[in-house]
Amino acid sequence: MSHNNVGMQFPDELTFKGYAAPVRIEGHVHDLEVIGSIPAELEGTYYRNSADHTYRPRHPNDIFLNGDGMVHMVRFEQGHADLTTRFVRTKKFELERQARRALFGSYRNPFTSSDAVREEDHNTANTSVMLLNKKLYALKESGRPYEIHPDDLTTLGETDFDGQLTSQTFTAHPKFDPKTGECIAFAYNCEGVASDEIEIYIINKEGKFTRSERFKAPYCSMVHDFLVSENYIAFVICPMVCDWDRVKQGEPYWHWDSSKTTHVGVIPRDRGVKAIRWFNVNKSVMQTHTFNAWEDGSKLILDQFVTESGWLSQFPDIHNPDAHELPPFGERWTVDLSNDSDSVEIKRFINHIGEMPVIDARFAMRRTRHFWFGTNNTELGPMLEPGPKGPPFTCLGHFDEQENKLDFYYAGPNSSPEEPCFVPRSPDAEEGDGWLLSMVGRRDENRTDLVILDARNLSQGPVAIVKFPCRVHEGFHGIWVPSTQK
Ligand SMILES: [Fe+2]
Repeated sequence: MSHNNVGMQFPDELTFKGYAAPVRIEGHVHDLEVIGSIPAELEGTYYRNSADHTYRPRHPNDIFLNGDGMVHMVRFEQGHADLTTRFVRTKKFELERQARRALFGSYRNPFTSSDAVREEDHNTANTSVMLLNKKLYALKESGRPYEIHPDDLTTLGETDFDGQLTSQTFTAHPKFDPKTGECIAFAYNCEGVASDEIEIYIINKEGKFTRSERFKAPYCSMVHDFLVSENYIAFVICPMVCDWDRVKQGEPYWHWDSSKTTHVGVIPRDRGVKAIRWFNVNKSVMQTHTFNAWEDGSKLILDQFVTESGWLSQFPDIHNPDAHELPPFGERWTVDLSNDSDSVEIKRFINHIGEMPVIDARFAMRRTRHFWFGTNNTELGPMLEPGPKGPPFTCLGHFDEQENKLDFYYAGPNSSPEEPCFVPRSPDAEEGDGWLLSMVGRRDENRTDLVILDARNLSQGPVAIVKFPCRVHEGFHGIWVPSTQK
């Protein structure tokens, strides 16, 4: 039997079976079952994106990251909750649906696609969701945003923001300045293929691009996330690199090259890339995701999760094929902008493994007190069988730096929380006063819940559990949009 496009049977691989199996159900459930009561303050919508393969992949070892964008939306209204799920109608999705089979090959590798689509856009729009100037977008860093309708998730089309977006790509991790309302974003691999160029964008709250300019990184690498403080933009360039000759041979787009070291580039928001400064970490480490950046006098502080390995569950280590991915820890990196030193001071400020970091976004770009993340804690419950992303979370964590206190929510037997989403109790509530939402996989039941926790009292357990009658695919990143912001 050939491996290519034989029927619709998904491969017998971790990415395609058990709790990770494709779901592919587009639908709507009105009035979900609720255990407890949904807080009255929760009026709005939680949107989050996921990667859900529509077709048997052309290559059986395809990675979960290459699934098609499937957006999940839970709308909260007067104590009720409704679920809607819908694929993003990307060019790739439409072409494959027409053909009733996978046409595109491995993650960002056109040389593994069928000849008919080699020149077509492979964007899956599967990573995150952004609200900009009252419009909702599905984002993936390898392509342009797709606008989706905030009420029913129908796809309105790919956008270049009326010609303002000059790159072929746009980050899935834009940052919003709570004081100015500006969106700070970037594109890497700007022309859609591997390159060392990065373009930064400052977009005002009316959606006008007020700064678009490019700079060169020390080498071409995956630039998945970045950091923004009140006055600076910071990029951590990690040796997850692309070698186009390897890609042409059908190899994975990225590989970890520990012969290279990690760099930090700092750009003043007012002066732009002409004033960029580079700092050297002098070792090979990878930023996975960021909490926040803030300033203390002449010092710029970067709070983020960092691992000593590459993202090896998805991409290989070319010098050590047997290496395993190591868990990230919360690190605080400090650079001093008042002298010529290019050094980075590194300390571990959350002494616990974690990923999918979240802060109270109303306080972004200044020093924050509260930090939330997905994690494991074997004192509360056993680790679960590794899935296609590695070991699933079993807990959510909260670090209150002022109290120097870690608190955990354990989701229960064979249950796995996903990225948390912070919702303030009210627009002017103090930092951290609000709710933490998280999808939780109930693996024994092949079903998903959405739990609602008091963000400052995770160990108390959920104040409400919204029960889905089915499983929605594990996802990546989500946002909360209050009903007043629609
Ligand atoms: Fe991400």
